[in-house]
Amino acid sequence: MDTIKKIPVILDGDPGHDDAIAWVLAKSSPLLDIRAVTSVCGNQTIEKTTYNALRICTLIGNHAPFGVGRPRPLVAEPIVVPTVHGKSGLDGPVLPEPDFEPCGLDAPALMEKVIEESIDPVTIVPTGPLTNVAALLLTRPDLKDKIARISLMGGGIAYGNWTPAAEFNILVDPEAAKIVFESGIPIIMAGLDVTEKALVFPEDFERIRAVGNKVAQVVADWLEFFYGFHRNLGYPGAPVHDAVAVAALVKPELMTTRDLFVQVETAGDYCKGCTVGDWYGVTGKAPNATCILDIDRQGFVDLLVEAVKTYD
Ligand code: BDR
Ligand code: CA
Repeated sequence: MDTIKKIPVILDGDPGHDDAIAWVLAKSSPLLDIRAVTSVCGNQTIEKTTYNALRICTLIGNHAPFGVGRPRPLVAEPIVVPTVHGKSGLDGPVLPEPDFEPCGLDAPALMEKVIEESIDPVTIVPTGPLTNVAALLLTRPDLKDKIARISLMGGGIAYGNWTPAAEFNILVDPEAAKIVFESGIPIIMAGLDVTEKALVFPEDFERIRAVGNKVAQVVADWLEFFYGFHRNLGYPGAPVHDAVAVAALVKPELMTTRDLFVQVETAGDYCKGCTVGDWYGVTGKAPNATCILDIDRQGFVDLLVEAVKTYD
């Protein structure tokens, strides 16, 4: 009988409701082997994102080695956003207290260890600012060949969300993003072009809740909380940005993509943090990112429903 060759992955995020749902999806997939989880300073302080990450891992029974991330971006000042994810960084349902501890290595050092020890090249899935990944690449550029790809949520070819030009994760640490996009490592970019279309509607929350287990109920509550912020902005549902970076690995057939050369703006009066995509190939440079532009929304929702069904 054929056995599935799992993709070794490192999950790196600043959870965050949509990071949390991304991790629920990752843990549910028979295609992924989660080798490590790391936190990063992003939507909240590193203390809060670490605590949230440990609670999520406890909820979903994911006890892969955990590394605490860098406490601040490489150069920029941190930007925390209690309006989006709440004061705790993950407001909403009550979660279990962590039932395990970080492993003692910080996030870049844990990534280094996992990548070095892996026989197969490892895929990194960052769903927050790219600080940890850039720190890894700065200290161990020799490991690039052992990184299969970076499937990240960040940026946007057409527009931003935190400024007109910049998406939040890239804006928080543009210098880190520049290092990642210039690394030569294959990049899958789940930017706003697609993640704003990865909408989960209120009727979908109820489909998820009806699955009935604890994880399903928590995911439905997270969606409701996250939708609260977006409803006030006129969205018809919750854009589950970060889960697209995982869905791109487990169900790539849901995605419409285009390979582009993408540069990250680190300066400028209006465009700092912009991911500038060379749509018409005017630079003559080879593409460095597979940019996801569209998604089969219904297929994405079905994937999330199937994911929560795998929990007890
Ligand atoms: C990104 O910002 C965060 O608030 C979300 O978790 C996502 O990673 C979307 O811009
Ligand atoms: Ca995030």
